[in-house]
Amino acid sequence: MKTQVAIIGGGPSGLLLSQLLRKNGIDSVILERQTKDHVLSRIRAGVLERGLAALLKEAGCGARLEREGFIHKGTVLSFEDTQIGITFADHVDADVVVYGQTEVTRDLYEAHTAGNGKIEFKVKDVEIHDAKSETPYITYMAEGSARRIDCDFIAGCDGFHGVSRNTIPSNVREEFEKVYPFGWLGILSETPPVDDELIYASSPHGFALCSMRNANLSRYYIQCDSDDKVENWSDDAFWKELKRRIPQEAAQKLVTGPSIEKSIAPLRSFVCEPMQWGRLFLCGDAAHIVPPTGAKGLNTAASDVNYLYRALVQFYNKGDESSLKKYSETALARVWKAERFSWWMTSLLHRFPDQSPFDLKMQQAEIEFLRTSTAAQSVLAQNYVGLPY
Ligand code: APR
Ligand code: PHB
Repeated sequence: MKTQVAIIGGGPSGLLLSQLLRKNGIDSVILERQTKDHVLSRIRAGVLERGLAALLKEAGCGARLEREGFIHKGTVLSFEDTQIGITFADHVDADVVVYGQTEVTRDLYEAHTAGNGKIEFKVKDVEIHDAKSETPYITYMAEGSARRIDCDFIAGCDGFHGVSRNTIPSNVREEFEKVYPFGWLGILSETPPVDDELIYASSPHGFALCSMRNANLSRYYIQCDSDDKVENWSDDAFWKELKRRIPQEAAQKLVTGPSIEKSIAPLRSFVCEPMQWGRLFLCGDAAHIVPPTGAKGLNTAASDVNYLYRALVQFYNKGDESSLKKYSETALARVWKAERFSWWMTSLLHRFPDQSPFDLKMQQAEIEFLRTSTAAQSVLAQNYVGLPY
């Protein structure tokens, strides 16, 4: 098989890139190791920056988002009995859209099918060859037979556990990582959200987050130990712990119900430099991971896709390779800002097991500065709604 751009990974990054390329007459093939149902079963954050919403619209996948997405014009940070309401419009001309990542992925798959996009599911043994040449290719197994795709470029959209990143030689790659000493225990419940806005709550008992998917589907998280297990948490135990971490006013009106999904996610910050090697380009979780505080995972994957797709269009339409050559530099400049914001929000809102009394005082001073400084709130707002591409 021959294509212009071979895409490894049929998650949000790979699907969005394929859709944008197709809209610009560029042929691609996606190789996905799972089934479509498996990909769509993943529960992930649901706060979309305006840049991602615009990119989905540009890709022809924004209609349902426009209809069903909830525009959020602010968010709330609570610290015991102190609440800091951030109204985005006071600081920046933007807002965010609350719309589940699963729905984004579903919309992308629908558009891919409608556009007769090429994708192979349940592939195995994907291997990248000659990435440093002008004729790279991929070998893989599908339906028990050996396959090969010859292409001009390879997009590594295969997430943190994919093969693309490790195709870059270890003496070329530099990896930066921070593993946080706690996780997030999250549940989905078919209950009305506790508030119109998201509540990021910090308490002496740990962090909690009140989020939502729609008017009758809520998403809640509590910070838990890194080695905690879902089976340690009954629904009642979760609700009881959540109530003592969020503002009392919210706790009193919280509508509880049976969880329809319950899972624990570890928290890590990770960046791989560079994000390209020859004609291999990394996008999204293949190149970087953020802790979920601030919901920058999908949004930062989208900014990578934005840069790569526009660079590929420039190459195929004008023969100009300049943007491709500086893709990694361009993408990383924004990636690191998203990493910083996610690390800052995580450090501000969580209780760390080894926190010294001085560390706690620093956290409290940071919170008090945020509460009293318009400039500090403006910095939070600019990062939360998404820095410009
Ligand atoms: N061959 C083919 N497909 C692969 C391989 C492989 N060797 N390894 C991984 N994949 C697939 C996975 O099954 C997954 O569907 O690549 C896809 C990667 O998707 P994500 O992990 O979702 O990463 P990405 O598309 O970059 O999306 C980033 O989505 O998952 C969230 O937390 C993530 O919010 C972030 C955003
Ligand atoms: C979610 O709704 O799952 C969510 C929202 C905001 C975050 C993280 C997760 O920062």
